Amino acid sequence: MYFTEQNAKKCDAIRTKIEFFKKNKVITIDEYFFLISSLLESIDKYSNSVSVYGAYLKKFKKAALLEFYFRPSKLYINHQEHEIYNQDANDLIKRISTDVLYLDPPYNRRQYYTNYHILETIAKYDNPVIYGKTGLRLENDKRSKYCLVNTAYNEFKNLIENANSKYIFMSYNNEGIIPIQAIRGVFEKKGKLKEFTISYSRYKSDSKRKYSSNKTVEYLFCCTCNTYCI
Ligand SMILES: C[S@@+](CC[C@H](N)C(=O)[O-])C[C@H]1O[C@@H](n2cnc3c(N)ncnc32)[C@H](O)[C@@H]1O
Repeated sequence: MYFTEQNAKKCDAIRTKIEFFKKNKVITIDEYFFLISSLLESIDKYSNSVSVYGAYLKKFKKAALLEFYFRPSKLYINHQEHEIYNQDANDLIKRISTDVLYLDPPYNRRQYYTNYHILETIAKYDNPVIYGKTGLRLENDKRSKYCLVNTAYNEFKNLIENANSKYIFMSYNNEGIIPIQAIRGVFEKKGKLKEFTISYSRYKSDSKRKYSSNKTVEYLFCCTCNTYCI
């Protein structure tokens, strides 16, 4: 029940066709990825879940009952060169230099691979082994160390120590795994730190649970680094 049967079948037919186009060289590899990203963005609007895919709702919500339309993603064309990576940030950081490094790590224990498994499967189309009522992918190696209490701080510290950047910006909030004071300590060793905060309505995934507060404080850390070599 992540989608209505009709919408799921339509998504499946489109995904199968995209793969067929690639296999038969009807489209280029760039066009292939453009179509897949368009499909992910389009189908997500009809999902029968509370924004993430950890579980589906027991009754179909209004948006999920609408007929799914496949729309192209918006492209922002300019004349700059772009490189996109798909790898662990702590490995990547050792081989790139940047003017601006913007970090938006996971804040809490909710692992992304369980919460977005449906989109992952549509993207990969790899018929994974699944388990549990909600059909999760069996992929423990995808666990992010930023989502684990015992490893998040060291992972973050290691990332910042290895960063070769003029400026580092990072979003985080006051309920994240790494305490704000610990983040401050790491940035203050790296350079000159400024902080901006904003109060934000709390995301409530469970309507029955009692939350300690309706608001969270969102932080933007801005660090001008002491050293930077090209
Ligand atoms: C808060 S989300 C970022 C969302 C993003 N800024 C956006 O607007 O779409 C955190 C992201 O970090 C990714 N992630 C978690 N651990 C990572 C790691 N070790 N290396 C690279 N990415 C990681 C997650 O898969 C997730 O996509």
